Amino acid sequence: MNPVNTRSPASEEESVYARYANAALQTEQALCCPVEYNQEYLSIIPKEILEKDYGCGDPTPYLSPGDTVLDLGSGGGKICYIASQIVGPSGKVIGVDCNAEMLALARKYQQEVADQLGYSNVEFHSGLIQDLKLDLDLLNRELSAHPIDSQSRWLELRNLEERLRGESPLIQDDSIDCVISNCVLNLVRESDRSQLLQEVFRVLKRGGKAVISDIVCDESVPHHLRKDPALWSGCISGAYQEAAFL
Ligand SMILES: C[S@@+](CC[C@H](N)C(=O)[O-])C[C@H]1O[C@@H](n2cnc3c(N)ncnc32)[C@H](O)[C@@H]1O
Repeated sequence: MNPVNTRSPASEEESVYARYANAALQTEQALCCPVEYNQEYLSIIPKEILEKDYGCGDPTPYLSPGDTVLDLGSGGGKICYIASQIVGPSGKVIGVDCNAEMLALARKYQQEVADQLGYSNVEFHSGLIQDLKLDLDLLNRELSAHPIDSQSRWLELRNLEERLRGESPLIQDDSIDCVISNCVLNLVRESDRSQLLQEVFRVLKRGGKAVISDIVCDESVPHHLRKDPALWSGCISGAYQEAAFL
């Protein structure tokens, strides 16, 4: 396994952020699972993206032409670029990830892929998948202009977050035909998981669907394994227990 960070992360979120920032820059074999994708869709996807495939399955066969698709935790963008070809020019694909390095990798080839396809229907946004109203690109712009240097600024920031959620939601209510995700939900901390599911229901159109490829287990994961940053960020100890979905 490659070294993932030089200091101990303080939380699950921090370990996930650091690990995927590194994995966007340098392939981390320990995060790669063998997945059989439809080869037809891979030829136009750049090698640098295919090498940073950290998925554990393929939710894309369930998509249809014309769908508006939301990919939760889009990483390097591979699933979005596959989805883009399936939904075609009348569809739309939105990738959301909270990791700046992963977003940079996904966005790097947007124009190149669009040129090869002859249309552009993919966009990548910075956000937390458990808080799909908050556009982190907008928040970052505000933070760069007005950094937090006092408690009163921090209180203002909390108000700003609420304003952004209300006035410029990243993903609108009832706007998505299909929510997909590939090996990401297990990385969301447990205290945010019910909000994550509420967000999926909020953004789906009536009659829409969610197709999730993820890691599950059939018994509860011991506390000490859940607290292990390498096992958590490696998509192992954050596994959902199957009964949780019944
Ligand atoms: C295991 S990788 C999977 C990436 C991609 N789905 C694929 O198939 O290659 C997990 C990705 O989810 C992102 N991620 C983890 N937790 C997230 C969260 N709470 N909100 C948004 N993105 C998150 C990470 O930054 C990383 O890019």
